[in-house]
Amino acid sequence: MSLARCVQPEWLDVLDPDDPRASRSRRDLQRVNKVMGNDAILTHALRKARSPGPRLIVELGAGDGTLLLRVMQRPTLRWQGGTIIFVDRQSIVSKSTREAFSALGWAVDTAEADVLTWLQHAASGSIDLMLANLFLHHFHAPQLTALLASAAARADLFVACEPRRSYGAIAGSFLLGAIGCNDVSRHDAAISVRAGFADRELSALWPASSRHRLEEYAAGLFSHCFVAHRT
Ligand SMILES: C[S@@+](CC[C@H](N)C(=O)[O-])C[C@H]1O[C@@H](n2cnc3c(N)ncnc32)[C@H](O)[C@@H]1O
Repeated sequence: MSLARCVQPEWLDVLDPDDPRASRSRRDLQRVNKVMGNDAILTHALRKARSPGPRLIVELGAGDGTLLLRVMQRPTLRWQGGTIIFVDRQSIVSKSTREAFSALGWAVDTAEADVLTWLQHAASGSIDLMLANLFLHHFHAPQLTALLASAAARADLFVACEPRRSYGAIAGSFLLGAIGCNDVSRHDAAISVRAGFADRELSALWPASSRHRLEEYAAGLFSHCFVAHRT
């Protein structure tokens, strides 16, 4: 029996970034990403895509930027460097994270904006790689269709790693208290899984007219990966 998709507000999106519960939940998110294996899942998808090293990367709903940092610190990608634009409603990329990117040869720019607005109004031009991690599930289908249409128009390679909407992932979300996650993280994890994806749901929302090759699959125990690669 499949679970119906259900999108509800998450507490982290409305808490003030300086609220201690929000700061704690951001740190929890780093652990949740590790438990889900999302950096390995993204790295695998990026290696498999075999695109030439990107010079301009945009991460949508990037949070503190540390997930992409862990991906880039893996020796397997061997990218040369360039510019990363982190788009998020909250500008929370720390100085130490920026310095770590700089040491890898990447300049960091942040856009404190709603992603849909940013995608509509940001300067035109193609983007080598657009990424999203634990972000697309925030949107209902009509917004997501608009977001993916903007991404298809701009991105040569689009990779998303999202919660998998499954009974196993729901059970996993109930265990976050056991690894010390706070009430915000536990609440948002349960909501996120119910808003997550299964089967080829993201492929179905990607514009049919685009010249991207699509892949969508269950990854790890709790994640769902979507890759669109311009042919
Ligand atoms: C679950 S967090 C994931 C953060 C990061 N990708 C990670 O994996 O650590 C979702 C992020 O999306 C941001 N966000 C939610 N809705 C947004 C929107 N409409 N536009 C821009 N950012 C948004 C939140 O501020 C938050 O940082």
